[in-house]
Amino acid sequence: MTATVEFEAVDTNSDIGLLSVPRHVAIIMDGNGRWAQRRGLPRTEGHRRGVKTLREAVKHAQKRGISYLTLFSFSSENWSRPQQEVSFLMALLRRFVYDDLKDLVKANVKVRVIGSKENLDKSMLTLLNDAEQKTAHCTGLVLVIAFNYGARDEYVRAARKLAERVEAGELKAADIGEDDVSACLDTHEMPDPDLIVRTGGEQRLSNFLLWQAAYAEFYFAPTPWPEFDSGAFDDALLAFSNRDRRYGGLSSDATGT
Ligand code: FPP
Repeated sequence: MTATVEFEAVDTNSDIGLLSVPRHVAIIMDGNGRWAQRRGLPRTEGHRRGVKTLREAVKHAQKRGISYLTLFSFSSENWSRPQQEVSFLMALLRRFVYDDLKDLVKANVKVRVIGSKENLDKSMLTLLNDAEQKTAHCTGLVLVIAFNYGARDEYVRAARKLAERVEAGELKAADIGEDDVSACLDTHEMPDPDLIVRTGGEQRLSNFLLWQAAYAEFYFAPTPWPEFDSGAFDDALLAFSNRDRRYGGLSSDATGT
């Protein structure tokens, strides 16, 4: 397990009585389709509204002093959705980068993209690389976009990298440790998520950050992503701040034998 600083005291959070914030929050933005269908709208309208929520979530994460915000925007399994929905999601991501990149730079947000780059459309690859490069100098919130991401796929790619290093004689199989595995994951040099939020009422991880979630706290919100406003985000942060994280040990106030 990588040792990280888990909490940062942020004065501006006293308005809601939040004395500490997670350093890294990761969100499964679920419930877009159901939100739209309940209103008699096409599922894609839920995704469109979801981008609005995403922008607000980025601002709110900055306000609360969160250092890393990871958003699950498209999974490696989402390609099996109807072609029209897949195309719509691709177009939304492209538009987000085109429209918001300047504002993200102004807000000192560094973009990082995780997920498989293999077999990606060349123009999409260029766009995502561009977003990373143009924000590389930013020192504020790190916005991690999980795109074409699946944790098992990430792990397979990491296993291949490790095997190549062993084949090249750089590493002995018996010497492989957790840090070597972490260093081969897409999230290398990032702290593990402290809090994983899933909106939309389902309670599962859906192949998201399986290795990195080892000691994360989970928060499942019934709210669909298009309605996950700053108040709902604060509810998740408040729940987190009341959790007792023990990492397999005992809490500091544990007594007796
Ligand atoms: C899950 O809702 C959500 C997605 C598969 C896509 C999330 C994408 C966005 C919010 C916008 C695009 C991202 C960026 C970075 C601009 P669902 O469709 O599975 O909802 P359901 O469970 O109600 O069907």
